[in-house]
Amino acid sequence: MTASPVLSRDADGVRTLTVDRPDKLNALDRNTLQALDQAFAAAAADPAVRVVVLTGSGAKAFVAGADIAEMNTLTAIEAREFSLLGQGLMRRIERMPKPVIAMVNGYALGGGLELAMACHLRIAADSARLGQPEVNLGLVPGFGGTQRLLRLAGRAAALELCLGGAPVDAARALQLGLVNRVVPVAELEAETMKLAAQLANAAPLALRGVLDAVVLGGECGMEEGLQFETAQFALLFASEDMREGTAAFLGKRKPQFRNR
Ligand code: CAA
Repeated sequence: MTASPVLSRDADGVRTLTVDRPDKLNALDRNTLQALDQAFAAAAADPAVRVVVLTGSGAKAFVAGADIAEMNTLTAIEAREFSLLGQGLMRRIERMPKPVIAMVNGYALGGGLELAMACHLRIAADSARLGQPEVNLGLVPGFGGTQRLLRLAGRAAALELCLGGAPVDAARALQLGLVNRVVPVAELEAETMKLAAQLANAAPLALRGVLDAVVLGGECGMEEGLQFETAQFALLFASEDMREGTAAFLGKRKPQFRNR
């Protein structure tokens, strides 16, 4: 049996998934895309998992893109399937019912940046480099990069990165709104796990409401988005956790959320 290209580790409600092909800078071949898809489906279904952290093996790369060696052999028909496989994975991650944090520990290029952008939050090491270099291969991004980059950072940034093909450093990525935070590489894991622990202790149904309202609501017009927000807001009044959270505030104590 060959080893899975995705490692999984659990601690205190946080599942850490690690793309594990360090000799190929964690490049995404079909096998790895499928393994990630299964890993995210399992994390979504497991009530013990409150937060997912996604990262890459080794000190050099988060993910250096789709696997160029594999792409070099694909027909156009196979490339369509490859793109749909990647896009399907990114959409699964974006629509996860629990927060997903990308811990960007190095190169996040092409499919690697697309993977990071599908996550809900991104913390980057100061040594990270992010970009959409597909034009250098005679290609365009194929796992949703043109669309998510546009929505995340705007048209100017999307065109700068996708037309230019050159990576940006972490400081510029922060300036463009591509990442939420930049931390010294030595502190990346501790800072990411601190955020993950905070989210793992928050009310899961409320987090899910935020994800639904922001991710799905953000894809509608203002009127529909506001209606969607109201529906999420009202629904949470049926949860025990909302009663607990408000009662704990009034009782000046820490809430105990139970995902109910
Ligand atoms: N696919 C396949 N293999 C890759 C890879 C990739 N995306 N990125 C790196 N590797 C492999 C290299 O071929 C090399 O393997 P060998 O040792 O067997 O030769 C190994 O990983 C180490 O890489 P380098 O020797 O190149 O390391 P470096 O430090 O000199 O350079 C780098 C690092 C700048 C990230 C360089 O590896 C690089 O430019 N990688 C490609 C980045 C890229 O173009 N990504 C976009 C892919 S296209 C895409 O993602 C399309 C899409 O949207 C779906």
